[in-house]
Amino acid sequence: MSELANQLSELRGRFDAAVADAPDADTLEAVRVAFLGRSGEVTLLRRGIGQLPAAQRPAAGKTINAAVEVLEAQLLEAERRLATGNFDAELAKRIDVTFPAIAPLRGSIHPIRRVMDDICAYFERHGFAVVLGPEIEPDYYNFDALNIPPDHPARDGFDSFFLTDHLLLRPHTSPMQIRTMQQHKPPVAVVTPGKCYRRDAVDARHLYQFHQCEGLLVAQGIHFGHLKGMLTGMCRELFGPDQQVRFRPSYFPFTEPSAEVDTTCPVCHGLGGTCRMCGGSGWIELGGAGMVHPNVLSEMKYDAGAVSGWAFGFGLERLAIVRYDVDDIRRFVENEPDFLQQLA
Ligand code: DAH
Repeated sequence: MSELANQLSELRGRFDAAVADAPDADTLEAVRVAFLGRSGEVTLLRRGIGQLPAAQRPAAGKTINAAVEVLEAQLLEAERRLATGNFDAELAKRIDVTFPAIAPLRGSIHPIRRVMDDICAYFERHGFAVVLGPEIEPDYYNFDALNIPPDHPARDGFDSFFLTDHLLLRPHTSPMQIRTMQQHKPPVAVVTPGKCYRRDAVDARHLYQFHQCEGLLVAQGIHFGHLKGMLTGMCRELFGPDQQVRFRPSYFPFTEPSAEVDTTCPVCHGLGGTCRMCGGSGWIELGGAGMVHPNVLSEMKYDAGAVSGWAFGFGLERLAIVRYDVDDIRRFVENEPDFLQQLA
């Protein structure tokens, strides 16, 4: 064997060992530089060609080129081996197939929205239209047209946010009764859900922004029995088939007679006792209702002798608390994912 061949063979022995021992890509790169780099061992050998007799130089060049090809192929192979090895090691480290899978995060319809949609669906099935109205209303729509003149004490109860002397954030959805009757001759049958605002201090039962749904039916021959029937049906739809509905005499300037509406407590099913939800009464209060006051009908140029109507206004957070057995109304605005997930 020529001397060059001896040198190359000895060099390959060391190269093979170095490549086999390289634990990572950096070490492998160092091996490449040491043997094949600009001042690496092979380059030095190549420089030695100049000293050979001219006749031997081409053969020597070929031998070195062939050796370089083999070394480079070995490096590439080693690189691949290290990369796969790392990947397998990572896999072995990270994947525990017995670990519970990560469930995909899914959005859901907000509980208040669901109550609203279900009420609307119920009334639409019975021929009512769903209409939405402005959240800023003149006092005429909020009070005057609803039979609450400027000096009437009932105005105080609404704890309104006034924006100007005559413009306010609506404290109830009842203004939509007025807008509906202004725009349509009887018969009218609408439900109008939406946001309302009151100067209430926030606690477990109060928010300063909340939702109501108003209902209005005016036609010939409408009486209190129709109101009871529709609201009882609504409660059964929302809370289940066993719900009873109770009408307690009450007062609202825009209805006569007026009532507050209670439903069987869905937690104790009316048993009362020590029930935390209803305070032991067996009943939960949902909102107000009544027969539309003749003054309101007349203000709308409706013939109060020829038509009559009922109206109701329920708080949606109130309905949702009962429906989902929620202990604090603030949960509906805090929107904790865990809370919403439970109700989804
Ligand atoms: N607007 C009343 C409130 O927010 C609730 C109400 C009572 C609405 C009687 C009505 C009704 O339509 O007839 O307190």
